[in-house]
Amino acid sequence: MRAFVRFRKIGDGAEERYVAWFEPDHFIAERNADFFVRRFAGMRWTILTPHASADWDGERLAIGPGASKRDAPAEDNAETLWRTYFENIFNPARLKVKAMQKEMPKKYWRNLPEASLIPDLIAGADRAATAMIARMPTSPAPRHAKVKAKHWPSPEPADVVEPESTDIPALREEASGCRRCPLWRDATQTVFGEGPENADVVFVGEQPGDQEDLAGKPFVGPAGKVFDSILDQAEIDRRKVYVTNAVKHFKFEPRGKRRIHSKPNAGEIRACRWWLDKELDIIKPNLAVALGATAAQSLLGKTVPITRMRGDVIQREDGLRVFVTIHPSFILRIREHEDKEAERERFLTDMRKVKQLMAA
Ligand code: URA
Repeated sequence: MRAFVRFRKIGDGAEERYVAWFEPDHFIAERNADFFVRRFAGMRWTILTPHASADWDGERLAIGPGASKRDAPAEDNAETLWRTYFENIFNPARLKVKAMQKEMPKKYWRNLPEASLIPDLIAGADRAATAMIARMPTSPAPRHAKVKAKHWPSPEPADVVEPESTDIPALREEASGCRRCPLWRDATQTVFGEGPENADVVFVGEQPGDQEDLAGKPFVGPAGKVFDSILDQAEIDRRKVYVTNAVKHFKFEPRGKRRIHSKPNAGEIRACRWWLDKELDIIKPNLAVALGATAAQSLLGKTVPITRMRGDVIQREDGLRVFVTIHPSFILRIREHEDKEAERERFLTDMRKVKQLMAA
């Protein structure tokens, strides 16, 4: 109900109010009314369901008797606009009917103006995808990509529905539909943080890599293996810490069949900081560990010279201590065996320090 109620506007000026017709499967209108009061406190609205109605006049919530669909206002212009928008953002090449029906179960379609379009969009998807492929290549000139990255605005609160989630599983669910920056378009899925909600320490990496993108879990690929083995040596139990990333979608450049990691830009880091802040709010760790420059930038809100600040503990204004170190993939990139071993040792020393700080 929280996701699928669609209001229609009636009246103007002082008479303006919003009315929605919704047919839930259960008697949930009353139990959800407070949610809508919080979400739409500044709006006068009524939700009609067959069993009960909820009415908010801006100050007072009233629960009344059930209604019929005929009591609700007829379709308005906003719905025509919404349907046009939905039709245009529908990407036939990414269609996964099962996943779509999981997000938007068929039983709710009767409540959704866009639902009438879905059967035709699905039926025409193959044809539309073939036409899209025929229109390739679509890579923008590099100068365009630069301009776009530079000017990608951080989303305004009004553009994004504020998550209500107060626990990690609910937040993860919210983040699965994240559209705060364009990275979701090419990634397989959102890779959210993992670990216990009462963890003492939160490790923050940069962004999921190719394997993480496919598995939907952070640090499971080559960098994750290095990370795991050094944590193990430092006697930090990965199952007891929370591991996440500053950016939660995989950013890459396709090269043949391979997807080559590409560094997230400041706008993407800023947009995704929303989720990291929420994770930290819920977990309230003793310590956060910035694994590399992107994580440090996200946690500290500014660019940080890692080589100079490695091993430092910086206290943020909100009191959170941030330990700065390298990203484990740095070790992977060193070719010379001795240098690699030396860097591994230094990272191990850092992790031993983290172990001490966790308890402090
Ligand atoms: N690198 C990261 O920063 N995070 C991952 O999850 C994997 C690789």
